[in-house]
Amino acid sequence: QARHLFNYNIVLIGFMGAGKTTISDYLSTCFAMDVVEMDQVISEREGMSISDIFEVYGEEHFRNAETNLLKEMQTKHNVVISCGGGTPMRECNVVEMKKNGRVVLLTAKPETILERVKDSHDRPLIENNKNVEFIEELMLKRREKYMAAADIIIETDNKTELEICEELVNSL
Ligand code: S3P
Repeated sequence: QARHLFNYNIVLIGFMGAGKTTISDYLSTCFAMDVVEMDQVISEREGMSISDIFEVYGEEHFRNAETNLLKEMQTKHNVVISCGGGTPMRECNVVEMKKNGRVVLLTAKPETILERVKDSHDRPLIENNKNVEFIEELMLKRREKYMAAADIIIETDNKTELEICEELVNSL
């Protein structure tokens, strides 16, 4: 039996473009942890992009897939789970995350988020709304739930991946 560095999972949450995928890849490289990139797993299982899932089956279907995937994670330890930006909006998802995970909220200013998402094309909620006002508004709507879910909060503006990871690991 391999010895695990952490006997819990690290669950990364935060707005689109907050850096969840980047930081989870970094953590997995540094600590030889497996990563579950929720969007990627769901997209692979459904055999289509996130945008197509939203278009063909609707958002509710995608949200149910997120909930089911989180439930599957309960048997795992020492895994980095990179959630979708909307995953903490469901109370039941937050309960699942907290069962054996440390929930880390990555934050960034709307301007930073815009810069990071402007060239991506598989984020249906934002695809036709790539401006600071829209991002700020959606962020405000989500803020309370993000904060309630978080065990640790890390600001990512003007920080390198290394700095963010150091801060994260030091606060675990
Ligand atoms: C969403 C964020 C996306 C993806 C989907 C919905 C959201 O994930 O799950 O497009 O509701 O904020 P990222 O945060 O990885 O972009």
